[in-house]
Amino acid sequence: MASIKLLGIAGSLRKASTNRGLLRAAQAGLPPETRLEIADLTDIPFFNQDISEKSRALIRVLTQIGTADALVLASTEYNYSLAPALKNILDWASREPNNALLAGKPVAILGAAGGMGSSRAQYHLRQICVVLGLQPLNKPEVFANAFAGTFDADGNLTDQKIAGLVDEQMRALVAAVAARR
Ligand SMILES: Cc1cc2nc3c(=O)[nH]c(=O)nc-3n(C[C@H](O)[C@H](O)[C@H](O)COP(=O)(O)O)c2cc1C
Repeated sequence: MASIKLLGIAGSLRKASTNRGLLRAAQAGLPPETRLEIADLTDIPFFNQDISEKSRALIRVLTQIGTADALVLASTEYNYSLAPALKNILDWASREPNNALLAGKPVAILGAAGGMGSSRAQYHLRQICVVLGLQPLNKPEVFANAFAGTFDADGNLTDQKIAGLVDEQMRALVAAVAARR
């Protein structure tokens, strides 16, 4: 099979983000011929229809989204929903003509937060996938508790059970990409 390009996007911007840690864990266990880049949302402006000239940082991430075979969305939970940085880049991507960057693209959703493992935010994100025409995997779901020794101080995943689920999810995502070819 030809190589598969995944793009990971985390909603949290902080350096020791556990959600970016989940994306690094996903990178570690990828099937052969698959690579996963991690998007940098640090300098992405808030969506504003008055912005007619996109910044280099924004163009870079939109290009990464457009050229990815599938997305891996790592959603933390802020006040029972997804973080604004993640919603914001999806809003930007959704404004491209004909929804060309997103339509029909397979998506894996995972996340780390408090005791419910960002499940509420992940379900809001699934709702957003409907309007964006994204195709989220149903299973496995990955709900990581960021406060239960699941990650080290740098946000690296240390829990083997969650790591196994992440690997399983990446295999399912690659299978979804292959099924579209
Ligand atoms: C503004 C804010 C709101 C939060 N609200 C929730 C919440 O509703 N549910 C939850 O489980 N955790 C909540 N948290 C905790 C975050 O999920 C937690 O800090 C998580 O580790 C952040 O992800 P990160 O490690 O990738 O930065 C909140 C944190 C912040 C900063």
